[in-house]
Amino acid sequence: MKLTADQLREKYLNFFASKGHAVISGASLIPENDPTVLFTTAGMHPLVPYLLGEPHPAGQRLTNVQKCVRTGDIDAVGDTCHLTFFEMLGNWSLGEYFKKEAITWSFEFLTQELGFAVEQLHVTVFEGEGAIPRDTESIEVWKSLGIPAERIYALPKEDNWWGPAGTTGPCGPDTEMFIDTGLQSCAPECRPGCHCGKYIEIWNDVFMQYNKTAAGTYEPLPQSNVDTGMGVERTICMMNGHSNVYETELFAPLMAQIRELTTLQPDNEEQRVRAERIIADHMRTAVFILGDPKGGVKPGNLGANYVLRRLIRRSVRYAKILGIETGYTATLAALVIDNYKHVYPELEQNRDTIISELTGEEARFEKTLISGQREFDKVADALVDHRQTTLSGRTAFKLYDTYGFPLEFTEELAIERGLTVDRAGYDKAFKKHQELSKQSGGTFNGGLADNSKATTRLHTATHLLQRALQVVLGEHALQKGSNITPARLRFDFSHPNKMTSEEKQQVEDLVNQQIQRNLPITVETMTIEEAKERGAIALFAAKYGEQVKVYSAGDFSMEVCGGPHAETTGELGGFKIQKEESSSAGVRRIKAVITNLN
Ligand code: ALA
Repeated sequence: MKLTADQLREKYLNFFASKGHAVISGASLIPENDPTVLFTTAGMHPLVPYLLGEPHPAGQRLTNVQKCVRTGDIDAVGDTCHLTFFEMLGNWSLGEYFKKEAITWSFEFLTQELGFAVEQLHVTVFEGEGAIPRDTESIEVWKSLGIPAERIYALPKEDNWWGPAGTTGPCGPDTEMFIDTGLQSCAPECRPGCHCGKYIEIWNDVFMQYNKTAAGTYEPLPQSNVDTGMGVERTICMMNGHSNVYETELFAPLMAQIRELTTLQPDNEEQRVRAERIIADHMRTAVFILGDPKGGVKPGNLGANYVLRRLIRRSVRYAKILGIETGYTATLAALVIDNYKHVYPELEQNRDTIISELTGEEARFEKTLISGQREFDKVADALVDHRQTTLSGRTAFKLYDTYGFPLEFTEELAIERGLTVDRAGYDKAFKKHQELSKQSGGTFNGGLADNSKATTRLHTATHLLQRALQVVLGEHALQKGSNITPARLRFDFSHPNKMTSEEKQQVEDLVNQQIQRNLPITVETMTIEEAKERGAIALFAAKYGEQVKVYSAGDFSMEVCGGPHAETTGELGGFKIQKEESSSAGVRRIKAVITNLN
């Protein structure tokens, strides 16, 4: 059966709606209030509190499409199916149905709705480890559906265990579904999970029964959940008989344009294909990050900003290999936006920002690329001449600091010359530089429990700050980005001018007054329309009629939000603005702390 991505999304949501699932919106790519990860990496990620037991306003059976970014796969990009951005179709049971229903519906959807032949399907299950037993239940369900034992593989934890998304949280054994592409096996032991391209994983059903604690132990969760994820790009690739995801309609216009812009043919065909794919993948991901409705991520040197910079710069470098001229990022971004705007209208809304940020970063990098490359070549030549194999951390840091070469990028150049980079030395040089310039890297040091009292209170503080900014500056002062670590909050909002010291004082006073009033924080569930009608601030898109949670701080603030929050504003103790600065054109940034961090 041939199917477009649009048809696949629709079919999936309709199928699970027919099985009693509520269709909910996908979340932002930039995770809310979770300092342990930089991007949303799976559909389950925004649902963590509900997998841990909090009731979801839309019920116990949910389904959606979620935009995901996974930078862990960046080095695999260039093969047939690994991407840094992808769309995940998901269905969830929050402590309701379990293995039998999940697997049966996956099988039904694959074979009856999508028309895959049962013979093409290979599945893997968890073989057991330590106190956690082999998943015989899933094996039996697959057998009962007609998958013969020789196409059911029991594999270890490194293959068949999923999660947590960050460092702690819900996780469990999974069963993964693969399509046999019909290619030759690469070796007699080739099996699903092998990366040669014969078997492509398209869906994963995770049985989230455990919570990984900060101490690294697995505790049983109070409820047994199902979390599934099916890859849109891979599935339509398999359905339409393509040999790689870049041939699907989601990439085809980009690939055609890249070929048209190419003026240099690398000697080696494999190198050309890899370069084209890296450019296409990284540009698409950068467009989605820059176009995210929550906004706030711009190319930079820390955390998510750094990932974005690295994607853009890596793409530019591969564009050079193909002789693609400066300015190509705008051309490719326009194609991505046009290809996706009917599904993700935020891309059209943010078209100007996306294009100007990409063009700006491309130009900044161009400026130093040539001199940086010269510097690298000089050092590399000398090392090779002296039969040395290690590029020093200091050189790698200089390339980063002076020429804007991300470390990973220098490592790639080094590999091409048979060199390795002294990472520890780089880290040392980086740290020293940070200390000198008195910067502190917040987001890199995640690892603390995301729902700690400190972050929860800071989250409540952002609601008070949001409302106070509107009262003092005007209704236009709306959140553009938020990032919370246990030590501080950072809040980006739209406002054309630098705040005066009186305005800052007024905002701070207003927040402190609400803290002193010790207002109760209450939560209600209602439709998004009702929330807006009642005057709640609703920063993120929700579908018509969708049930949402609305948090109120007494009579002062009312905002659509997933929580969690403090119980009363009094818990915050006190609120202090530390800094107000520009974030980007028309966007200001406030850094603030609460003064009672117990
Ligand atoms: N969370 C699971 C995954 O990403 C479904 O594979």
